[in-house]
Amino acid sequence: MRLSVIGCGYLGAVHAACMAKLGHDVVGVDVDASKVARLNAGEAPFFEPGLPELLRESLGSGRLRFSTEMADVAGSAVHFIAVGTPQKRNENGADLSHVYAGVDALLPYLREGDLVVGKSTVPVGTARDLAARIAERCPSADLAWNPEFLREGFAVKDTLEPDRLVYGLADPASGVHLMLDEIYAQALADGRPRLIMDYETAELVKVSANAFLATKISFINAMAEVCEATGADVSVLADAIGHDARIGRKFLNAGLGFGGGCLPKDIRAFMARAGELGADQALTFLREVDSINMRRRARMVDLTREVCGGSLLGQRVAVLGLAFKPNSDDVRDSPALSVAAQLQLQGASVTATDPEAVPNASRRFPDLTYTTSIEDAVTHADAVIVLTEWEQYRTLDPAVLGSLVARPAIVDGRNCLEPERWRDAGWTYRALGRPRAASAVPVAGRSVGLPQAAAGATLSR
Ligand code: UGA
Repeated sequence: MRLSVIGCGYLGAVHAACMAKLGHDVVGVDVDASKVARLNAGEAPFFEPGLPELLRESLGSGRLRFSTEMADVAGSAVHFIAVGTPQKRNENGADLSHVYAGVDALLPYLREGDLVVGKSTVPVGTARDLAARIAERCPSADLAWNPEFLREGFAVKDTLEPDRLVYGLADPASGVHLMLDEIYAQALADGRPRLIMDYETAELVKVSANAFLATKISFINAMAEVCEATGADVSVLADAIGHDARIGRKFLNAGLGFGGGCLPKDIRAFMARAGELGADQALTFLREVDSINMRRRARMVDLTREVCGGSLLGQRVAVLGLAFKPNSDDVRDSPALSVAAQLQLQGASVTATDPEAVPNASRRFPDLTYTTSIEDAVTHADAVIVLTEWEQYRTLDPAVLGSLVARPAIVDGRNCLEPERWRDAGWTYRALGRPRAASAVPVAGRSVGLPQAAAGATLSR
């Protein structure tokens, strides 16, 4: 099928490349000329494993191109709206200006029988409003709401192999679903569930899924607060409750909490929309979810101050990790960058590193010292803090790191290190939701007292 994708950010660029991979003829349209030039050159404008290869393959096949001209959508029968819906400045609600601008720019090019497909995350009620706008201008065109559930870091896989396909339709009998079925024929042939519903339910599926994930993370982080007050270990607790299939272990990793371009702004926009609809009471718990999440950042700063002997003034702190999660260079609402900035503002001298996010972090917060080398970051540090659980940090060798730092003190903001390994190598190890000192009871299934690598070995195991 001939498809257009309007908006070539995270969602749109991945969607366009994946649709071309599936055999469709795709044009991606974006107002940002430099982004379009990079995409046409086969470069992903952000770090996403597998995307550059997929872009080059799809561009090479002749089935994918990017343009700044909306007129280039002519000839496409289906137009995906994949623009961003960031949080409004100083307000909880979502900024829908890009959605309306994208649809308005598309309207003059819509032809009889065309289908507009919304993929952006929007407040409930937006699709119905957009459908009316489209109907006014081009009565024979239709609108479907088809939310996207991809995760950064797994965006290509999630798009090609979605857990489910959601079609929000004005009229399930209209036959619109058949066009979507043709687009997603591969996923449907693979047995992926496809659910047909009205616009409002489809919009709510997306925001309620993100609200649930955020709630699950804040739940375990609330347990971490209780563990801190009692000397219990939240990682062991999460493993134990996670064995109950009704609870599940996924998204129960306690630590610095959630960030990124989706979960934080989506729960806030959801609360704001519920307020407009007179259903604000239903979502007041999300305010607590947000508060628990933000408290973890403050707690991380406190723990760092504690291992620095009570004051951050003049202390050299090595920050490992800046991205909001591993396998991403995204620092939007990143808990890691927020903690690094707080430490610096409270008098510490921060040297921060990340495998991918240094350029984005240094643009957003230029006052920190940045390096791409773990060794440079930790040398002469009074405290090392792990804020994003990249694989290269999980496997760091405490003996080798110990020979570089001024004081062997580490704070694990993502519960991604083995406390015993670090303590056995002479480090002060602190973490969110874990006991201050080694438990008297050896933890079954954990390696205790692993042999240490000789000095001079590589930084990682
Ligand atoms: C999230 C959802 O997971 C996707 O399904 C959704 O499509 C996407 O938002 C979106 O709305 O576009 P993403 O923002 O890529 O995806 O990141 P997640 O993997 O959900 O992680 C979000 C944050 O939660 C990260 O900061 C991560 O470190 C944190 N997290 C995750 C935890 O603190 N603990 C966990 O157990 C899991």
